[in-house]
Amino acid sequence: MKNKLKYWLLASLFFLLGSCDSNPYGKGMKIYNKHCAVCHNEDGNGLQGLIPPIRQSDYLVKHQDDLACIIRFGLDTTITVNNVIYDMQQMPANDILDDIAITNLINFINNAWGNEGKFVTPKKIKADLEKCE
Ligand code: HEC
Repeated sequence: MKNKLKYWLLASLFFLLGSCDSNPYGKGMKIYNKHCAVCHNEDGNGLQGLIPPIRQSDYLVKHQDDLACIIRFGLDTTITVNNVIYDMQQMPANDILDDIAITNLINFINNAWGNEGKFVTPKKIKADLEKCE
């Protein structure tokens, strides 16, 4: 009887573990696919000459502290990403994404498609956003 109980406990533990998101960046990925992929593409490669890539983007690496502001307020300047100039299209603002959503999103982007960015905390994102709010 005791063993049976142990078995059930173990089985329910595995069930619980199994139902957790197996991808630690799953939340960020969903936000990306919903709000960003339409332009930057699911593979992060953008659209040649029009929309810059965020996969292996040197701009992304250099502007880590500006990312939260770019995501919230968009971007409308001339930028150079991996030696290509982008000035034709503007990136729209995203005012529905709160600080936590932006944190999850950045952690996904920083670790997707071979990117090797840092892990960011909601505290850092809040501080970054204070610069542009
Ligand atoms: C309507 C199309 C569009 C959508 C949607 C969009 N972007 Fe952009 N994004 C752009 C364009 C165009 C630029 C370049 C803007 C410029 O030249 O000023 C850009 C620039 C960027 C950059 C800086 C350049 C680079 O490639 O590293 C990042 C990072 C970025 N976007 C991330 C995101 C994220 C994250 C989302 C989702 C919240 C998103 N974008 C949604 C069009 C879009």
